[in-house]
Amino acid sequence: MRIDILTLFPDMFASPFDFSILKRAQTNGLVEIVLSNIRDFTQDSYRKVDDKPYGGGSGMVMLCKPMFDCLESVQKQDARKGRLIVLTPQGKKFDQQMAKEFAAEERLIFIAGRYEGLDERIIIGSGAEQVSIGDYVLTGGELAAMVIVDAVVRLLPGALGDDESSADESFSDGLLEYPQYTRPEVFRDMKVPDVLLSGNHAEIEKWRRQQAIERTKKNRPDLLNKLKNED
Ligand code: ADE
Repeated sequence: MRIDILTLFPDMFASPFDFSILKRAQTNGLVEIVLSNIRDFTQDSYRKVDDKPYGGGSGMVMLCKPMFDCLESVQKQDARKGRLIVLTPQGKKFDQQMAKEFAAEERLIFIAGRYEGLDERIIIGSGAEQVSIGDYVLTGGELAAMVIVDAVVRLLPGALGDDESSADESFSDGLLEYPQYTRPEVFRDMKVPDVLLSGNHAEIEKWRRQQAIERTKKNRPDLLNKLKNED
């Protein structure tokens, strides 16, 4: 898979992509991540990427021209067309289902905006999908792009080691994950539940399922409603 990210701050991405599973996935050739600086596509001496909004109001709006020049240059770099995504709080909310869909693509192209937003014609003219990572406003789309890339790359076949399976983690069956324990059996008077030490796999399965439902009921009742409606 190839992932392109169009941003004014490519340096922000260096560290998060340089550790653990994301680093290994790049080293092993599962994913190539290409950062492009939108400012490199300005033609004026100020290297201007934004301007005041028509109609007035606070903040600045990102200009069409450098963005389209950057996007068209990036698109030409590879024959794969790619799925184009703009990060914005106005977008469809990202979730594990969308992460799975993205992981099946050959190429993803992310536009990370800054300031008050993008000139709407960037979205209209490029046909990009708008995606949000949650109901809060970040200073720009960069962190949102990092979150999505992280969630997608770990799903690529071969990205996780044998002991890092994504099969029964949270959301994989519409529920939050059950509680996990490791050694020692007692820590500060807190004991590992007996059932996990019993060796009875059927009982363990039953307990885990029950715990997952309890936890989902308590922390994320909206997920249970979604499951019910799918039945
Ligand atoms: N840019 C600013 N806030 C955002 C959010 N919540 N999701 C995606 N992109 C954003």
